[in-house]
This record gives sequence, C-alpha cells and structure tokens, in this order.
Amino acid sequence: MTLPAPRPAVADPARSSASEFAADVRAGLARAPQKELPSKYLYDEVGSALFEVITVLPEYGVTRSEEKLLTRYASEIVEALPADVKVAELGSGSGRKTRRILEALCRKRPTSYYPIEISRAALQLCQRELADIERISIVGYERDYLAGLAEVSRQRKPGEQLCVLFLGSTIGNFVRLAATRFLRDIRAMLRPGDTLLLGTDLVKPVDTLVAAYDDAIGATAAFNLNILSRINRELDADFDLHDFEHVARFNPDVRSIEMHLRAKRDVHVHVGAARLDIDLQEGETIWTESSHKYHADEIPAIAADAGFTCEHQWVEKDWGFAESLLAVH
Ligand code: AVJ
Repeated sequence: MTLPAPRPAVADPARSSASEFAADVRAGLARAPQKELPSKYLYDEVGSALFEVITVLPEYGVTRSEEKLLTRYASEIVEALPADVKVAELGSGSGRKTRRILEALCRKRPTSYYPIEISRAALQLCQRELADIERISIVGYERDYLAGLAEVSRQRKPGEQLCVLFLGSTIGNFVRLAATRFLRDIRAMLRPGDTLLLGTDLVKPVDTLVAAYDDAIGATAAFNLNILSRINRELDADFDLHDFEHVARFNPDVRSIEMHLRAKRDVHVHVGAARLDIDLQEGETIWTESSHKYHADEIPAIAADAGFTCEHQWVEKDWGFAESLLAVH
C-alpha cells in the first residue's frame, strides 16, 4: 500500500496574494524607461524546478561551490555557534546545502529548524528532503523573509539564540544599498548572541559569469521566460513567449549579472487581472533579476554597516564563493 506523502507542517499559510502579484506586475511593466518584474516571481512551481536544474548545470558553479564549503566546514561552523541554537533559514530552496549544517547540529543536540519561503513548492521540497535527519524538528513558514523571521524571533523564549541562514547568494538579488538595508532589518529582529550565516558569490571573470547565467542547454533561459508564462497563467495575460529572448549581461558599474527578456519584435500585451495594456518595441527589455557579486573582503564592512561583526569567513577559491559568519553583540 502506498501512503500519501505526509503533509508538511506549515505554521502560517499566508502568502503573496494574486492581487499583490497583479499590483507588482502592473507597477513593474508600467515603469519607464526600464520595464521590470520582481525576481521573487521567478519561483512558482515550474520556476523552482528549473532553478533546481540550474544548480547542477556545469556552467553554474554557485551551488556546488557553496555545497563544498558547507560539507568541508560544517563542524567548524557549528562549533562557532552558541550552544543551544535554533536555526531559521531565509529561502531554504531544496534544503540540500542546509543538510550539512543541520546534521552537524543535530549530532550535538535536538535542533529546531524554521525554513522561511515564499514558494510553497520549495518549502515542501525542503521539508521532505530534511525530515529524515535525526532529532530535528521542522516548522516551515510560507512567508516573506522578514515577516517570517519576525514571527520566528517573536515566538522564541528568552535566552534562546537564533542562527539565521541566508545562503546561496540570494543577497545578490538586492542592489547594494538595499542589501545593507536588508541586513539591518534582519539585525533589528535579533539579539546579542544571535548570528547570521551569509553566503555570497564572488566576483569572477565576466565570461564565466555570463556563461553561468546563459547556459548552453537553455535552462536559465527557460527559468527566465517562465515568469511570462506564469503571468499568462495566473493573471490572464497574453504574452507570446516566442516574441521574447533571454539575455544575461554583466553590469561592471555595480558588479552584477542582469537577466532580461528582450522583445524580438514590436509586441502588445494585455494583462487581464492587472487591467494593463502595454507595448514593447523591438529590442526593448524587461529586467527580471540582478545577481550582485562580491569581494570576500568587502563583507566585513557591509556587515559592520548593518550592525554585525564578521567573526569568521570560509572561502572556496576554485569557483569563488564565501560563507561569512556575522554576529550580534
Ligand atoms: C538563487 C538568486 C542565488 O542569482 O544566482 C540562477 C538565481 N538566476 N540563475 C542567482 C539564478 C539565474 C540565483 N539565486
């Protein structure tokens, strides 16, 4: 007999509503001169599955590099954490990388883990992936990062310390000033003794970066284009995906890889649920994501700016990725 998969515990089913999605699409596509869409909408069920494919592409070294670090240094990282720590993770993804840290923690004592994800598909994937770790207790929060973290932080008892994981270089999706602001917002919810483990992809040669975001089999192109088909599905729009092509380019001024969708001809689009009609001219782009790249030695200054002290840093040099442990004093 096959049993149905156990339903993962989700503490709060609130999520970005369809109307919020419609409002964000409306604001982004009405913007001039550069149309844009928030990158968080790349991760519906299809997008999350495509991102999992990206993480194993030969061109995309980010995930492998971080996995190498977390595998090699898990016990060292855990040794640097306060004794009785609870773990919250912003954007857990599949949970594959986090497993290393959680296993090392659970070997020492039973540990609570709170993944915070806006993508229900990703949240369920990670809960299924990690449920077999001995002595772990998992409660997922289907929320925006800060709302989820506020809730986790509020629910803990005095004296319980929190380690926040923000891995995968997701911080790279923020423009630099917003990244610092975001770290400050995290800091505001933490107390002395709490920590933040921050993963950042490092600056590397432009052709390596462009290949990582414009891979040969077109997985990243599909990941990018899927945002338009999501808008078609969920917001009653009529994008013809054949009218658009994936573009990845490096912006040296801010050291970020930008993903765009470029109109191959003049197009008109109607987005029913956003009561929006737009025109794109041939060659015009919709900016869908930026991935900022860092130098390892700029992290301590950014951390200090946000009220943290960078206590340890582990760097994987083959690809170029840094894991930094930031502490609150
Ligand atoms: C999950 C946001 C870290 O920016 O590298 C991968 C997403 N976009 N390929 C990144 C992504 C295109 C990824 N992050």
